Amino acid sequence: MVFLKTVGVVTSGGDAPGMNAAIRGVVRIGHAKGLQFLGFEKGWEGLITGTFRPLIPRSVGGIIQLGGTILLTSRCPEFKTLKGIRKAAETLGANDVDGLVVIGGNGSINGAYELSKETGTQIVAIPASIDNDVFGTDETIGFDTAVNTAVVEIDKIRDTAISLERVFIVEVMGRTRGFLASTVGITVGAEVILVPEVKIDKEKMFKVIKENSAKGKKSGIIVAAEGIGDTRKLAMEIERETGKEVRLSILGYAQRGGSPTARSRLLASLFANKAIEILLQTHGNRVVGLQNGEISSIDLKKSCENEKKLDFGLLDLAYELAT
Ligand code: F6P
Repeated sequence: MVFLKTVGVVTSGGDAPGMNAAIRGVVRIGHAKGLQFLGFEKGWEGLITGTFRPLIPRSVGGIIQLGGTILLTSRCPEFKTLKGIRKAAETLGANDVDGLVVIGGNGSINGAYELSKETGTQIVAIPASIDNDVFGTDETIGFDTAVNTAVVEIDKIRDTAISLERVFIVEVMGRTRGFLASTVGITVGAEVILVPEVKIDKEKMFKVIKENSAKGKKSGIIVAAEGIGDTRKLAMEIERETGKEVRLSILGYAQRGGSPTARSRLLASLFANKAIEILLQTHGNRVVGLQNGEISSIDLKKSCENEKKLDFGLLDLAYELAT
């Protein structure tokens, strides 16, 4: 049996609340089991340049409640090239890194898979992204926090929408996917949810807004994923077609920050535990996840080659709930 000694930890891509809780979990659980850790800084960049620092249980104290990532992160164009990936693999080899924990979203997990083809270091990915778009897990670290952040803001927007009898489009993040928009939409009682995966039925939307207004509804909230396109143009179109006053509010990067919710911290700790369990069994190239309430893992390649499905039922449910 191969004995793992040195494990690298890296956070990559867009940060997500709970990444720090995951770093803490990995280092503390792994240290107790005899592993030592190197924290690579600024995402893949740290692997390419060989920038890292030792992490011991004390270095990860007081961070469970912090948003962002103490290791910093980056979007790293060089890592998209084979040359960059090979440099990262060399760094791992030169420093005798036996295992690598990659904490990040879809892009980072794809990067981890590409790296796995060039290195013997065992890689375990921990899904952390506000987008919740990783195949192999029902939830990513940080998603719950981002949902709650958006809900708090939209509840405030609802107040002003009612007072002035306006319709609001609230744009949330999610890149090309609608997981954040659909969950946020249901939980704020949005009248309409728009996601990139579904062609917008404009006539249905106009009709619902007009009917709601005729019924005496004072406000309307349309939660739109950023991936649907030009929400500014859409706001003008809705105003023209429905006669209602329409405003656009883009929630933006606040959704990526803030103290992680209890759920995001718990998920981070459970994922960290699973990642160490996998590394100690010397089974590399896995992505940990939550599936039907169980902490599990799937093959890294499988996660990269499949697309997570959106629950389209939530979109119809929003219409039904908003009557
Ligand atoms: O993947 C997380 C995310 O916040 C997406 O929701 C968003 O589209 C993107 O990152 C923004 O990326 P950047 O930080 O590079 O502007």
